[in-house]
Amino acid sequence: MRIDILTLFPEMFAPMQQSIVGRAVKNELLQLNIKNIRDYTGPKHGLTDDKLYGGGAGMVMKPEPLFEAVADLRQSDEPAKTRVVITSPAGRVFDQQAAEELSRAEQVIFICGHYEGIDQRVEQALATDVFSIGDFVLTGGELPAMVMADSVIRLLPGALGHDESSQEESFSEDLVGLLEYPQYTRPPVFADMAVPEVLLGGNHADIRRWRREQSLLRTWERRPELLTSAALTDADMQFLAELKAQRRGQSQVWLALVHYPVYNKKHEVINTSITNLDIHDIARASATFGLAGYFLVQPAAGQQELIGSLLKHWQYGFGARYNPDRHEALSKISLCDSLTDAAAAITSQTGKKPRLLATSARPTSNMCGYAQMRRQIAESDEPYLLVFGTGWGLTDEMLAEMDWVLRPIYGVGVYNHLSVRSAVSIILDRLFGERNERGEYDG
Ligand SMILES: C[S@@+](CC[C@H](N)C(=O)[O-])C[C@H]1O[C@@H](n2cnc3c(N)ncnc32)[C@H](O)[C@@H]1O
Repeated sequence: MRIDILTLFPEMFAPMQQSIVGRAVKNELLQLNIKNIRDYTGPKHGLTDDKLYGGGAGMVMKPEPLFEAVADLRQSDEPAKTRVVITSPAGRVFDQQAAEELSRAEQVIFICGHYEGIDQRVEQALATDVFSIGDFVLTGGELPAMVMADSVIRLLPGALGHDESSQEESFSEDLVGLLEYPQYTRPPVFADMAVPEVLLGGNHADIRRWRREQSLLRTWERRPELLTSAALTDADMQFLAELKAQRRGQSQVWLALVHYPVYNKKHEVINTSITNLDIHDIARASATFGLAGYFLVQPAAGQQELIGSLLKHWQYGFGARYNPDRHEALSKISLCDSLTDAAAAITSQTGKKPRLLATSARPTSNMCGYAQMRRQIAESDEPYLLVFGTGWGLTDEMLAEMDWVLRPIYGVGVYNHLSVRSAVSIILDRLFGERNERGEYDG
């Protein structure tokens, strides 16, 4: 491969004589040509930069010397063979995939900008790529060109001591989209910090699994946005789901769907009948977001009988065998007479009384926001019971007994008449869905 770098400051490239890059040049894996743009100014053009058309501070690099330089250096007109790269903060962000793309070319010409940048016609007519090394502005394109060239050179066969050492690294093909796992060397204990036991045991399958999980964990913690395009296996997805559930605290959150006491449209207190869709869809949402369980609060004997036979079918009967995914969701359901009974069941399971968090489509006096509650649940080690009403909603007496009531869901206006199963999905996503620390989507 041949790399040409067009710069106004060739001395800045002295570090490229060192270490792995220096060795690659010495071993002739690479022809490295650092070229001063001033060599192409000639008596005709003289200057390398000029004032901005349209006004504004600073100077812009002129096109003529760069056109001449590229014409002189270019070995092929085929873009796949000779890549012409402009360094610019307004470019596509350079990443490992871009490094791999460039490493497949026969020649890469980097153009280093300076001052306010480069005349647009250079990009228009010469560039195959415009790359930035990040969302910040540097004084010149020399460091970006060196950074990019370095990441390309180390991919050349024979550049590294062991070829495989470029293969198991952050962003490389084996870890597509993932950051590399933590690495250790001797001594086994240093300053009271021990190397993880599994790495000392010599069980290669265990080591492979530990490394994969550490990569997933690290990526999720530091660069969660990468996970959307990472190549993940079912086992990876399972690991991440458990991790998220653990970290975000869902494993100690239960949900209750109250059929009595609730209001009807005349504000009378009634007992609503069960709805098959609510049973299934809320169970599926609860399973998706990793809740610990789903209580159906329904005291009427006839209704309980109906629920009982439905659950029997899905939890133990033909349904359980026919559709195991549905079985998994519906096995989270328990039936109880009252919300007090549901809370008591959680207390006996966890040893702690659950905090009661209700939802209402009407504004109430003790309302709390989603971001606050999301943080609170994640940081708490107490169980929570998230309470939804059927009919026209939970009674005022019930709402008064709650520790908090979540703010009603609104879309774009005041209309917010959602079915309870829609409200459940939206609220679970707001409380436990993929978001970063600032509450923005991270997926
Ligand atoms: C001061 S910058 C020009 C900034 C330009 N006016 C802008 O706002 O986009 C001068 C040169 O440094 C290089 N440069 C600065 N920041 C860079 C980055 N993040 N990635 C790649 N090149 C960069 C480019 O070659 C650029 O032409």
